[in-house]
Amino acid sequence: MIYRSFLRPILFRLSPEAAHELALDSLSFFLGAAPIRKAVAARHRGWPLGPIKRFGLEFANPIGLAAGFDKNGTAAESLAALGFGFIEVGTVTSEPQSGNEKPRLFRLASDHALINRLGFNNRGAAQLAENVRRRPPDCVLGVNIGKSHRVAIADAIPDYLTSFTAVYDVADYIAINISSPNTPNLRELQRREPLAELLRALQERNDELAKDKSLRQKKPLLVKIAPDLSEADLEAIIEVALNANVAGIIATNTTVSRDNLHASPAEVQACGEGGLSGAPLRSRSNEVISLIHRLTEGGLPIVGVGGVFTAVNAWDKICAGASLVQLYTGFIYEGPNVAKKINQGVADILRREGFKSLDDAIGCSAK
Ligand SMILES: Cc1cc2nc3c(=O)[nH]c(=O)nc-3n(C[C@H](O)[C@H](O)[C@H](O)COP(=O)(O)O)c2cc1C
Repeated sequence: MIYRSFLRPILFRLSPEAAHELALDSLSFFLGAAPIRKAVAARHRGWPLGPIKRFGLEFANPIGLAAGFDKNGTAAESLAALGFGFIEVGTVTSEPQSGNEKPRLFRLASDHALINRLGFNNRGAAQLAENVRRRPPDCVLGVNIGKSHRVAIADAIPDYLTSFTAVYDVADYIAINISSPNTPNLRELQRREPLAELLRALQERNDELAKDKSLRQKKPLLVKIAPDLSEADLEAIIEVALNANVAGIIATNTTVSRDNLHASPAEVQACGEGGLSGAPLRSRSNEVISLIHRLTEGGLPIVGVGGVFTAVNAWDKICAGASLVQLYTGFIYEGPNVAKKINQGVADILRREGFKSLDDAIGCSAK
């Protein structure tokens, strides 16, 4: 309440990127001291049910922060105290890069949406690894890796392998981003052959590193996909993902569509190109989740993301087939209590609907 009526109006007076940097710095500053962080974490626990097991990892609750908010892993420790069950940091690339020219992040407040064309601005995979090693979050940590801007799409595999190796030790799972609309041609990696080759190379490296380090199991590899795919594209991706033994699919990234917006065409056009996130993405993201759930008969874990602001939004994703849920834009609009509120709300809905556990509810709308 304080956030929406007091803090958000102040933050929304700043440019979206300045507000984002201020929020990240403030979180690190105010929650930097362990006693304060612990006290805040104790107040933000919203999930009354037990831990959740997914791809060999234990999640304290099913609500995570999606990639892109903490690109360099500088605030993961503080963000975890806000009640997220997992934080996905990144996207990082093999070398530092500055991203696209500013302005490159826009609010469509009347739509509860954002448009961004940041273009993977980040300080590089090695720096991210150092940041989270120094200040690890007290929750599951995913690291999201992408292709460097200067690397041609034909040379993507060695580039991903460099990032993969750099973040391997610090990541609980690694997300492969092949779906950002802001790196030219990146989405071509969602096609059958290039994707199969990329995943094969990454899983080989995964095997080698797990053996080298005497790990009990390989790191779970997840693939993050776009919402702008046809059913045939999705079928191909699922087939390749299953063959490559990926641990799950993250559905979805931002959309290039501009359908169903309340903002005026002039306002939308003024933002220019980029990925749209938030409320207008919600139903398409749910459709993609349902489709994957149906195609895999529930056999491949789905991390549902796109337009989650409330417990009902998260619940709809679970019913569509998501076994974990992430959000980004909802965090900007709803504020620091959003994970706690959604966790409490989902637990209430589960009880009301007569489900004994979250697992029983996954894909319930398809049954
Ligand atoms: C400003 C911004 C930056 C983002 N950066 C990344 C990124 O670096 N890597 C990535 O995989 N997704 C990125 N995303 C996509 C989000 O992780 C998420 O998939 C998408 O925004 C849909 O969720 P939402 O509606 O809850 O925001 C970004 C989203 C926004 C709004």
